[in-house]
Amino acid sequence: MGEGFVLSLNELKRGHIPGRPGRAVADWVALREDDGRAYLLRRAPGEVKVKGLGRFDAESLLSGFSVGDRITVGQKSLTIVEAGLPEARRNMARRAQVIGAKDSGFIVSWMGIGVGSKVLEGGHGSGGLAMHLASVMGSSGTLVSVESRPEHAEVGRSNMERLREVLPEFPEWHLIEGDLSQATGDISEICSIFDCAIVDLAEPWTVISGIEGMLRVGGRLACYCPTSSQLEKSWEACEELGLVVEWSGEIIERRWSKASKGGVRPGNQPMGHTAFLLIAAKIAPREEE
Ligand SMILES: C[S@@+](CC[C@H](N)C(=O)[O-])C[C@H]1O[C@@H](n2cnc3c(N)ncnc32)[C@H](O)[C@@H]1O
Repeated sequence: MGEGFVLSLNELKRGHIPGRPGRAVADWVALREDDGRAYLLRRAPGEVKVKGLGRFDAESLLSGFSVGDRITVGQKSLTIVEAGLPEARRNMARRAQVIGAKDSGFIVSWMGIGVGSKVLEGGHGSGGLAMHLASVMGSSGTLVSVESRPEHAEVGRSNMERLREVLPEFPEWHLIEGDLSQATGDISEICSIFDCAIVDLAEPWTVISGIEGMLRVGGRLACYCPTSSQLEKSWEACEELGLVVEWSGEIIERRWSKASKGGVRPGNQPMGHTAFLLIAAKIAPREEE
């Protein structure tokens, strides 16, 4: 068995991790391959099928092992780790294109999203961005997601419901199935004023005016725009409504790797494009001159 930070599954069951007071622990762990691939596993009796690992009874499999131990499942040698956002994202079902860590991290920081924030998300898709948001909002936050396609909503909901079990805290989360441009009434019944809104759908400019009325002064709107024409139209729509564009551009990620003859250098993979981002703030209206 491993040493150092070792936690028995009975301790997991009791609900606390030593040295991390207050962290409620669900009965999920992740089995991690050395390269970072991970499989989420709920410690519960009964046979389960885990894609990539096979069928087994998770409780029997994990019996006698602790977080931090190495375990063999079939041909795979894996480390048992606490399950968190990275492991949940590695395991998520995907239907629509998801916003990844590169852009989600920037959105969260620039918009000041954190514990207790009230956030509206348009175009929930597979829930990629929503998972990042939920992981920082704590149980006092409110996240309202809107998704027009039922088949996407179903995938997003299953990803979020699993994350709810994995994270120690999860915001009050609502998923409205419908068109964001028609959903203002339903949204306001849940939350009338938001700190932030993020729009990731094909025509952001069609929903901006409805969102602007639900933002607090000082609140921010982000539009995630894969193409420059979406960016331009969103920019114009924001300015027409008096929103002030604070930041626009794209986040470029360049990975490095270890060179075979020593040293580290930029990798050979191309730098891909995800989307342009526009972040605009709501300011107090100017007095009539
Ligand atoms: C690219 S996906 C969103 C992905 C999501 N941000 C993520 O990180 O997983 C865009 C989603 O917006 C939805 N959508 C498009 N127009 C919409 C609208 N007017 N109202 C609500 N959802 C809309 C689409 O069905 C699609 O699921």
